[in-house]
Amino acid sequence: MNIVLLGPPGSGKGTQATLLSEKLGIPHISTGDILRRSFGTEQGDRAAGYMNRGELVPDSILISIVRDRLSQPDCRAGCILDGYPRTIPQADALSHILAGLNQKIDIVLDIEVPDSELIARLSSRRVCTCGATYHLIFNPPQNPGVCDRCGKALYQRDDDTEESVRNRLIVYKKETQPLIDYYKDRKLLVTIDGSRSIEQISEEIWAVVSENN
Ligand code: AP5
Ligand code: MG
Ligand code: ZN
Repeated sequence: MNIVLLGPPGSGKGTQATLLSEKLGIPHISTGDILRRSFGTEQGDRAAGYMNRGELVPDSILISIVRDRLSQPDCRAGCILDGYPRTIPQADALSHILAGLNQKIDIVLDIEVPDSELIARLSSRRVCTCGATYHLIFNPPQNPGVCDRCGKALYQRDDDTEESVRNRLIVYKKETQPLIDYYKDRKLLVTIDGSRSIEQISEEIWAVVSENN
């Protein structure tokens, strides 16, 4: 089963993808995490420039990252895509890549959250290199500053500054929101009210996914 998570920065894509990946036993693919793990290489440092400004990394780079990742054996039973696609050319490329693997998108979940809530969530987010995500108030780790899952020190993302967050929201509306109609037309879109608790959202997502599985 292939699931796409759409939603603005801070809507909870990573949080929900992690939970869903554990339940379904299929990989969670976050293009943001893949790019952050590539920092220090030539391509990664070029990507970091775009990311820190809150801009999108060029489509050609993302399409090639996703093509490589989806062709790996652990994706044979499907995956959860978090943060890809973000533009119409990326979405068209995804359909082609999946068709070449005899697969398709089963469902696109659009997590909707008001802007004021997104800013509150991102300003107090803490993350771990293992992919775990926390919030100082809404989802704190058991021990302050330390990851529950792997014990490493938590840090704040370079693009969680006020200026970058504001730009990420503008870019989302301009470049990524058109995908809502794109997937609505293809009868794949389900809208999720992302302003509730992590548990409530996760239960609703599970109900929607179980119905389509
Ligand atoms: P990416 O890493 O994907 O960032 P993003 O889309 O901006 O989304 P976030 O990761 O910030 O938010 P999220 O929705 O995952 O929320 P989270 O679960 O963490 O991309 C970063 C950059 O990489 C992009 O700007 C771009 O430059 C580049 N990039 C990546 N993919 C690309 C692509 N395909 N094309 C081009 N460029 C690309 O939750 C947020 C916070 O809220 C956390 O603290 C969490 O604990 C808390 N929280 C979660 N749910 C709730 C809840 N229900 N109630 C209260 N708090 C909650
Ligand atoms: Mg994320
Ligand atoms: Zn960790």
